[in-house]
Amino acid sequence: MTTILAIETSCDETGVAIVSGDDTKIIVNAAALASQISIHALTGGVVPEAAAREHVRVINPLTKRVLNEAALAAADIDALAVTIGPGLMPALTIGVTAARTLAYAWDKPIIPVHHIEGHIYSALLAASDEVTLDHEQGAKISPDKLSTNPRVPKKTNSTPVDFMIPQSTVFPALALIVSGGHTMLIKISGHLNYEVLGQTRDDAAGEAFDKIARLLELPYPGGPHLSALAQRGNSQAFTFTRPMLNSSNLDFSFSGLKTNVLYTLRDLKLAKTNYKPEDVAASFQQAIIDTLITKTKQALARESFQTLILAGGVAANIVLRKRLGQLAREQKINLRIAPLSLCGDNAIMIGQVGFFAHRKNRLISWRDVDARARINIETM
Ligand code: KG4
Ligand code: ZN
Repeated sequence: MTTILAIETSCDETGVAIVSGDDTKIIVNAAALASQISIHALTGGVVPEAAAREHVRVINPLTKRVLNEAALAAADIDALAVTIGPGLMPALTIGVTAARTLAYAWDKPIIPVHHIEGHIYSALLAASDEVTLDHEQGAKISPDKLSTNPRVPKKTNSTPVDFMIPQSTVFPALALIVSGGHTMLIKISGHLNYEVLGQTRDDAAGEAFDKIARLLELPYPGGPHLSALAQRGNSQAFTFTRPMLNSSNLDFSFSGLKTNVLYTLRDLKLAKTNYKPEDVAASFQQAIIDTLITKTKQALARESFQTLILAGGVAANIVLRKRLGQLAREQKINLRIAPLSLCGDNAIMIGQVGFFAHRKNRLISWRDVDARARINIETM
């Protein structure tokens, strides 16, 4: 049994988790997550220094809590896995410093983890490829979202959850990663072996959701609010641009779509035309999802993959989950979608990577670990 204490602080969630695994499965011994949503809602976005201060405030209590809940002590931990990047430097530094300090005090190795690797593994190890079952699974392992009052960390849901170690036949896999900071298509040839096939040239998909949500005067963070509004709208009401669909590469670009929606709204308002915000939301969401699906399809046509993976914050979008499910069925390819509770940032996913990285001896000294605002996943 290998036991990993994992820490995630790349943006606006402080996550600490303990996972252990053997040759067949990985279990979550305990997990805690403190969301900073109510703090960043005041400024309408993440202020890096405010995020860092909040990470500092909660990281020690969360670490103590998961150790207590797992009924484990320093001697039981084999290594500390920590997100070293990419992300906000002041935020990353807090998690890296916490991991570094524990590694020094406990004389343990550090496993540096790339944030996107975490998102990939949250889906790769998902128990089920059923879109509907994900809801149930998500509810069962919900790692304590402290969204109502982040000042008072609540008790974690410590129900241990098993993740089966995937057979090597899941590879090569194609991952569509859609988050607030990233939109990427990644080929995974084997454990921890990545090749970036395409990525966004400007805004990430989640960022575009958040910006359009702000235009529609929806609360922060916009993505989930926009997708809830879109459910009531007509996705054919407006025809927004779907950039780069005919380009010969697998890159994305969403800034043109954002401008298209911005000008459409401006013109509607100038002409005093009545319009339904839900129609704008639904049509925008349709444009983004069409683009994601088309590019994924293009990647699948280029080479043969065994598994299709969807992960990252935007993977919580129900329409996207369904559309990718349809694509997987059409293409007769296995599907792994991150459970809803693991779509957003969390430390369980960092622990999952940590387990495989430990097996591959990706271990460094506390002296050598550094936060990196930008880091290529291929170099991990
Ligand atoms: O992975 P994540 O938690 O943080 C980053 O690593 O960036 O992703 C957060 C992003 C935000 O932009 C948020 O608005 C978006 O995921 N998001 C959604 C939905 N839920 C979260 N976007 C669209 N539909 C959703 N249901
Ligand atoms: Zn993320």
